[in-house]
Amino acid sequence: MNLFIKNIKQLITVNSGGKPSKSGKEMRELGIIEDATVMIQDGLFSWIGQSNKLSQEPDDSIDIIDASELIALPGFVDSHTHSVFAGSRENEFALRAEGKSYREIAEAGGGIMSTVRATREITKKELKKTADRYLNSMLKHGTTTTEIKSGYGLDEETENKILHVINELADESLMSIVPTFLGAHAIPDEFRDNTDSYIDFICKRQIPYISNHKLAKYCDAFCEQGFFSVDQCRKIFETAKSHGFGIKIHADQLSQMGASILAAEMNAVSADHLEKIDDAGISALKQSGTVAAILPGTSFFLNSGYAPARKIIDAGVPLAIASNFNPGSCMSYSIPLMMTIACTQMQLTPEEAISAATINGAAALGLSKTHGSIEIGKQADIVLFNVPNYQYLIYHYGVDHVAKVIKHGTYLDF
Ligand code: NIG
Repeated sequence: MNLFIKNIKQLITVNSGGKPSKSGKEMRELGIIEDATVMIQDGLFSWIGQSNKLSQEPDDSIDIIDASELIALPGFVDSHTHSVFAGSRENEFALRAEGKSYREIAEAGGGIMSTVRATREITKKELKKTADRYLNSMLKHGTTTTEIKSGYGLDEETENKILHVINELADESLMSIVPTFLGAHAIPDEFRDNTDSYIDFICKRQIPYISNHKLAKYCDAFCEQGFFSVDQCRKIFETAKSHGFGIKIHADQLSQMGASILAAEMNAVSADHLEKIDDAGISALKQSGTVAAILPGTSFFLNSGYAPARKIIDAGVPLAIASNFNPGSCMSYSIPLMMTIACTQMQLTPEEAISAATINGAAALGLSKTHGSIEIGKQADIVLFNVPNYQYLIYHYGVDHVAKVIKHGTYLDF
């Protein structure tokens, strides 16, 4: 299908000049075109430029969108979510408001394990229906590509159920979806007294099965005190790599255990969270070229302190912003909100926040050749916002400014 978007007030291309990600000062360069036109052919961008440079108007067979009062950005790429889960945990939100911590709630049997219990009970059909609703809402909020992790099953049957749901949604939904296996998200009760045999179960049964059935692109683990040690994560990652998975890691979230250094050692595509990363971790990520994926919504929601994002960018590490949408630590998938928090609490500039939520999000999923910026030949994922300029989008926060979403060249009529 062909589409012509004309008179775009301000087009933010986030052009990376062929580089897989932006780092350092490049994160402030957004490739802005005022009064722009974009042409889309067969789902890909085919022409991008100033409206007055266009030599001929399209013929009548082409759909035209007049974007006179709108600005355009690449669809957001949310590189870290746990969007397939059952139930909700507003009770824990209320407990935290009374002073209980995320860790205390988890230790008392709530937290991740309470969502695991709900996700084990729900049928696959219901699970898929719930996730599909979230995905549609994410699209409406401007996210056109998302990663989704398993990790709320922690037994063979439920992990496979979640991964099948993610893969079916990837086939059926308009959203581009990247599946990640997160068997090492928490220690299931059945293995409470013998974590090492849970690691064996992941390495000997789950990873080979998921690899044979091509159910995930990445393998992730929660490297954290009370969850999985550096050595246990290393064992999982070595097995996963030998089965062809890329690596992602929940690193340095609640404590500092050297998880970012492990990410670098494993050549992980991204190290995520990083609230407690130290200088050695930052320089290890710089060396390996691993993307640092920060999750501002989680720090905000748990009131748990922010990752040193300014320091990470200044050190030259490519930084991505993701939502971490999940029922416990961030019940939101609004990327504009995450960008606002990154600017107000983590000293990012609006330009850096936009690069982090688009091209660098794509890099954190190994997708930047095809996603994450408005460049000729890339997948035509473009979002039109009803705001006067890109800074305003982040400044006028907590409100949905999306006017139109075009995914892979298709206009989504919600
Ligand atoms: O990234 N840290 C581990 N996993 C999620 C939390 C999931 C939950 O609380 O259900 C996170 O914050």
